[in-house]
Amino acid sequence: MPKTINVLFLAAEADPFVKVGGLGDVAGSLPKALRELSNDEIKLDVRLVLPYHPVIKAENVNPLGIFSLPRNSSEVEVEAFETSVDDLPVYLINGEPIRANGSVYSADAKLDAEKYVFFSLAALKLANHINWTPDVIHANDWHTAISLYGNLTKRWEEGAKHIANVMTLHNLPFMGPDVRDIMESYGVKLAQTDLPDWARVMPLPLGLWASDAIVPVSPTYANEILTEEFGAGLFDFLQIRRETISGILNGIDTTSFDPSTDNAIGANYDVNTLEKRWTNKKLLQERLGFPHDQNIPFFGIVSRMDIQKGIDIAFNALKTMKKIDFQAIILGTGDPKLEEAAQDLQTLFPDKIKVQARFDAGLARQIYAGTDMLLMPSRYEPCGLAQMIAMRYGCVPIVRKVGGLNDTVKQNETGFVFEKPLHMSLVGAIKKALKVFADKEAWKQIQLNGMAQDFSWHASAKEYLKLYLSLVK
Ligand code: GLC
Repeated sequence: MPKTINVLFLAAEADPFVKVGGLGDVAGSLPKALRELSNDEIKLDVRLVLPYHPVIKAENVNPLGIFSLPRNSSEVEVEAFETSVDDLPVYLINGEPIRANGSVYSADAKLDAEKYVFFSLAALKLANHINWTPDVIHANDWHTAISLYGNLTKRWEEGAKHIANVMTLHNLPFMGPDVRDIMESYGVKLAQTDLPDWARVMPLPLGLWASDAIVPVSPTYANEILTEEFGAGLFDFLQIRRETISGILNGIDTTSFDPSTDNAIGANYDVNTLEKRWTNKKLLQERLGFPHDQNIPFFGIVSRMDIQKGIDIAFNALKTMKKIDFQAIILGTGDPKLEEAAQDLQTLFPDKIKVQARFDAGLARQIYAGTDMLLMPSRYEPCGLAQMIAMRYGCVPIVRKVGGLNDTVKQNETGFVFEKPLHMSLVGAIKKALKVFADKEAWKQIQLNGMAQDFSWHASAKEYLKLYLSLVK
């Protein structure tokens, strides 16, 4: 009989059900990759739980029944459903606080607080309801952090079985709103913690406090969060927890992101047929209304429009490049101010810069397959997925030396790296890249180096398995 490890994996979003950002990619891939590690000795029974967001349109969803959580002097109903993707069991949780909140993440912090506290506590109780005891609760970011806190306090107050708590940390500064009142309405008390006062009412800090293991999504980010610059006010606390923190780099879905089979792109290619990439550049130029030109450097930005991503740094860099011939496509949505700045940039350089302010997975793939360089000048980047996808498609990343970008892009070998979060530093890196770009053979070598990297989930999943094993004795 293989030893079984049961893992309840909680996330606010997961591909293919609903995806807003990188968290959705990770929660869509990692649970499956973990299950695939099962062998004769060990069975990894990972199950995913998601809020049944109104936007989720899944088929083959079966009701699992209704149970309730105590709230104030009455009760609130939890409706549980079950479905699966590729053998991964998936539970969807519904209830009034989830229905009341139309979007995955609301602009109304109170609605989000209500939804995610409810979801986190309901997911914990779901395990009882289906008579399945997890060995590990694996939460992701602030939205699901209260499950870890609830698990720990249950252990303390009710002498419940030891269930290990793991938190994968995708974005430290997003800690969630003050949830003290909401937690109290569910009968969950605030414990004495060694967190700073301002933090002890917020989900992410409470979840980190309750974690047996904290897993930032890259080794560099794991070090950065211990510093004042990246520690978002929690670095003192995190330094005390140092022993429990270890970074594990995300992977990407290398089956889906494969230029040799991707049917969102015009011409498929691999390391042996790299010249076919030119067709994709041409098609993209056509689609965007740029003139065909194989030799002109073509930049892509595929990103949430967010200060975190250094979008403003990229815009300012492009603005200074009046004398340089280039084409650029900017794809993404987010901060209205940055979307406006993008439009201004397009107005300023109508022949050079095109902006598509929307979420478009197909166009994103065409950008990876058709542009020469991807710009990612992030202020901080816990992991970053776009640079890995770009490299797999032979698009050379130009990135800032932070977080996962530092762990995945090698200067002059697979991409170009700069240090300071300043547009002139980015311009410096772009100019270096353009010099190499002019030398066809040298450029091709960088593309091939990037395409040869292994960014599959397999290695990361093995690290998580090692971690689980160290936690469940
Ligand atoms: C967040 C981070 C990003 C990371 C992603 C998945 O979106 O900002 O760096 O790649 O989560 O972990």
